[in-house]
Amino acid sequence: MKQDELKKMAAEAAVEFVEDHMIVGLGTGSTVMHMVTALAKRVKAENLTIVGVSTSRRTEIQAEDLGITMKSIDDVDHVDLTIDGADEVDKSFNGIKGGGAAHAFEKIVATSSTRNLWIVDESKLVDRIGRFPLPIEVIPYGSKKVFARLASENLNPQFRKDDQGNDVITDSGNFIIDLHLGVVEHPHLLANWLSEQVGVLEHGLFLDTVDTVIVGTQDGPKILHA
Ligand code: A5P
Repeated sequence: MKQDELKKMAAEAAVEFVEDHMIVGLGTGSTVMHMVTALAKRVKAENLTIVGVSTSRRTEIQAEDLGITMKSIDDVDHVDLTIDGADEVDKSFNGIKGGGAAHAFEKIVATSSTRNLWIVDESKLVDRIGRFPLPIEVIPYGSKKVFARLASENLNPQFRKDDQGNDVITDSGNFIIDLHLGVVEHPHLLANWLSEQVGVLEHGLFLDTVDTVIVGTQDGPKILHA
């Protein structure tokens, strides 16, 4: 099976965790797109009354188009379950997210959510995170100063560009700097240091966040619990 089929497998298994009347956080990315499609089918088929909370404009548009009732994170008092993708996950469920530049909104929804479930294909499971470049969302003002600070710490920063060579702009109008680390030796220390840096809006290290990971594998979906 190809990678996208494995993503779809994990996504379809995940929507079974949604129960009627839940407020459901909807992540961002290609795996989540499969999940939103499957969720909309369930909502229609079973006449479920759920509310979705989006983590990006892309997801919001897709979910609304498919008939899922959506609310802003600021208009709900809690989120029951958030289903999101990830770029890398280690055995302790430390993850890197933000390949789709949505990790700041994703973290806001995740930290408001009672349960967090990630859906990944098996290539995303790693012994140690860091081979996937770690995304940092930075506000444009002074972003070259933040970049210089990251470079001086040997974190191999690179501004993220689109196919035309333009700066990638997030839904909140910020830039992304990717850190090419190879391996993150001390995820919690790095997360704390990054959070302290002026101009950094949010980094893509998601530590102690997720309780369940559904992995699409050649042998079928595997459900891992923290
Ligand atoms: C979005 O910013 C990311 O955090 C995605 O959840 C992550 O990049 C996974 O994306 P795919 O499902 O497209 O692999």
